[in-house]
Amino acid sequence: MKVAVYPGSFDPFTLGHADVIERSAKLVDKLIVAVLNNSAKKSFFTLDERLIHIKEMIKNIPNAEAGAFSGLLVDFARLCGANIIIRGLRALTDFEYEFQMALTNKSMADEIDTIFLATNIQHLYLSSSIVKEVVAYGGNVDNMVPPFIKSELMRKLALLSSAKEDNRGFGR
Ligand code: PNS
Repeated sequence: MKVAVYPGSFDPFTLGHADVIERSAKLVDKLIVAVLNNSAKKSFFTLDERLIHIKEMIKNIPNAEAGAFSGLLVDFARLCGANIIIRGLRALTDFEYEFQMALTNKSMADEIDTIFLATNIQHLYLSSSIVKEVVAYGGNVDNMVPPFIKSELMRKLALLSSAKEDNRGFGR
């Protein structure tokens, strides 16, 4: 049985992620979309929110499931019985980091191989950081994220800006 892990920060989940998930789910028996719980890195969405997003995004893919991990990816992959790691590759700029990560993972777990999926051409420029920047300045992210994620971005932005307003009012 071919079990794969597709790891990432998914902060936020983009159409690029959706594309990689859809295509890689067809290549394996089971795909675990795993979000990294990294307390050292400040994220826009909480871990729980990102898990909800992933679950919503994979609800129509019967062989995909959501998971969360902290620590080493290869330890999580072993725990899941996965021998494949899936990563999407956009441009040459991704390559060095991805290659280093794949080799590091291979050196720690020889039985686990990384498979790179070349991104769909229309998602070449897309990244979670770009989405956060565009949305923060009021830009349109319709062609970057699924509608559910767009509404989540709007909800979170409203929440953050009302919290900022509350802080400004504090002590007046
Ligand atoms: O979406 P991202 O931020 O590019 O995903 C990066 C991720 C989560 C795949 C990577 O940071 C990771 O695997 N972290 C877990 C720690 C680990 O295993 N490091 C060793 C490989 S470099």
